[in-house]
Amino acid sequence: MNEQDQDKVTYDKDSPIAVFDSGVGGISVLRALREEMPHEDFRYFGDSLHAPYGTKSTEEVRARVFELVKSFRADGAKAVVVACNTATSAAVRALRETYPDYTIVGIEPALKPAVLAGNEQTVIVMATPMTIRNEKFHVLMDQYVDQAHIIPLPCPGLMEFVEAGKTEGDELYSFVERLFSPFDKEKIDSVVLGCTHYPFVADTVRRVMGDRVKLFEGGPGTARETKRRLSVLNLLSGRERAGEITIENSLSEDKAELCRKLLGADT
Ligand code: DGL
Repeated sequence: MNEQDQDKVTYDKDSPIAVFDSGVGGISVLRALREEMPHEDFRYFGDSLHAPYGTKSTEEVRARVFELVKSFRADGAKAVVVACNTATSAAVRALRETYPDYTIVGIEPALKPAVLAGNEQTVIVMATPMTIRNEKFHVLMDQYVDQAHIIPLPCPGLMEFVEAGKTEGDELYSFVERLFSPFDKEKIDSVVLGCTHYPFVADTVRRVMGDRVKLFEGGPGTARETKRRLSVLNLLSGRERAGEITIENSLSEDKAELCRKLLGADT
C-alpha cells in the first residue's frame, strides 16, 4: 500500500489551495495566483523558521517539503503550489511519485519566455545555489542552449534581504551591483528572477542593470498552470465571492505580517 492509500483525504472544489515557500518569497507567486483565480481561497505558509532552503542540502529540503505537503493534503487542501524554485527542484518529482493523484504544481525559472523574447539573447538566470546545482535546472537549460547564451548566477545571501523586509536601499543596491559586477551590462538582454524572493528586488536589479534589460519571473506561468490543472479536474471553485487568503509563518507573526504587506504592496 502506498502512502497515498494509507491516509485518505477529502477535499472538493471549494477547498483552499495551499501555497508555500521557504519564507516570504512565495508571495510573488500568490500575487499571480490571486490575479488568475480571484474566487479561490488560498492558504499561504512561509517556512521562515527553516529558511534559507537554497544553501541547504537537497535531502534536507526534500524531507521538509514532504512534511509540509503531507500536512496540507491531510488538512484538505485541494492542491499544493510549491511557490519556491529551490523546493521544486529538490522534491517535486518525488512528490508526484508519492502522490500521483494529487495536484502538486511547482515553479521553475522563467527561462523559456526569456529565450523566446528575441534572437540569441544573452540571459542571466539568478537563482539559489541549490536550484542551479540540481539536475532539473540543467535539463531546462539544455533545452535552450542552442538558442541563447545562458549564464546561471547563484545568489546566496540575496533572499535574506527580502526576508528582512529590505526590498530597497543602499545595502541592497551594493549587494546586487556586486553580483552583476563580472558582466558587461550592455551585453545582457534579459534577467530571469529564478527565485520567488527576487521579484521583490526587481527595482534594484533594474537600477543596476539599466532600463534596457528585460526581467522575467515564474509566478504568472505557475498560476496559469495551476488554473489549467484544476480546470481539467473540474476542481475550480464555482463561487462568485472574492477568495479568502490566510497567511501563516513557521517563525513568527512578524513574518506573516511582512507577507501581508508584500501581497498588498503591488496590488
Ligand atoms: N524562494 C526560494 C526559491 O524560489 C528560495 C529562497 C531560499 O533560499 O530559501 O528558490
